Amino acid sequence: MHVLSPFRQGHQVTTIAVPVGRPFLFCEPAFLTLSANPLQLSHRLVRPTVVVESGRLSQRLGADVTLATETFQHTGSFKFRAAYNVATHIEQPALITASSGNFGQAMAYACRLAGKRCTVVMPNTSAQVKIDAVREYGAQVDLIDVRAISRAARLQELARQQPDAYIASAYDDPLVIQGNASLGLELAALGRAFDVVLVPVGGGGLSSGVITGLRQAGKNTAVVGAEPALANDAARSLQAGHIVSNPHEPPTIADGARTLSLGRHNWEILRVGLAGIIEVSEAHIKQAVRLLFELANLKAEPTGALSLGALLEQPESFQGRSVCCVISGGNVDPEVYRAILAEGA
Ligand SMILES: Cc1ncc(COP(=O)(O)O)c(C=O)c1O
Repeated sequence: MHVLSPFRQGHQVTTIAVPVGRPFLFCEPAFLTLSANPLQLSHRLVRPTVVVESGRLSQRLGADVTLATETFQHTGSFKFRAAYNVATHIEQPALITASSGNFGQAMAYACRLAGKRCTVVMPNTSAQVKIDAVREYGAQVDLIDVRAISRAARLQELARQQPDAYIASAYDDPLVIQGNASLGLELAALGRAFDVVLVPVGGGGLSSGVITGLRQAGKNTAVVGAEPALANDAARSLQAGHIVSNPHEPPTIADGARTLSLGRHNWEILRVGLAGIIEVSEAHIKQAVRLLFELANLKAEPTGALSLGALLEQPESFQGRSVCCVISGGNVDPEVYRAILAEGA
């Protein structure tokens, strides 16, 4: 479904077609309740996002494309922003999380910096490079056979064994949203009049954080989510007006977006603050990974390239617009990356 939503450009209000018809939000949402003002947070250790003006991508896509890349963030993805905020704000001396991906690595490193114990539950089928990375960042890895025990059940067992530990969600936690809001604040501080910021969506921690940061900085920039069409629970949730879940882990190549549903804290922000959501085909996700490599010298993982994939999916909506694509991470399995690049050859 394509519905026209108001789209502000300078003093003019024009229109843009987005797949889920939601009016863009230009006022500060009153429902944002954060446990601290992100502007006052200490983000000394968070690396600023790297801003890349991409002339070649702009020319190819007919839009003024700026990349805000988190591929050079500590541990290779935006997740460090959230993880560091969690690790430095909890009182508990230990933390347990279940993540086979970027959050596990980020949490392991953030806990090391904060001097906290960290246990990361991972399926025993996880790529060895990922298991090694979590260990190298200093966490204890708890390998499980997911056919024998679910991650949630194992988390509960570990919580009983370590009653002094904080159970950390990768997205559904105000501390996570607040940490990710630092990216929205940085984008606002660039002082650029972006028409739209495109953000990958999995559980919704990044997108709700970017919206929060932009609004905290007084910016009404439209934020549009980008999720795999194979994992389109966020688009269906926006259409339904309540959280809709995927029945199974979706088989998308964008592994960071294989979540079953949006988080509840994230939903409260996204349902009002997200201007729209674009469902990206697997072919466009892979094409975006290739274009970032070929035209912008950037290695992005499939989930990280979803924002550019959204532009490829719906280029007509962004013609002549100033678009900021958040490239949220670069941790891609070498085999997977090689195969994606080879497909374009
Ligand atoms: C690189 C990358 N981008 C985006 C996402 C999605 O973030 P969120 O779950 O906060 O929506 C993830 C989640 O793992 C990720 O690893």
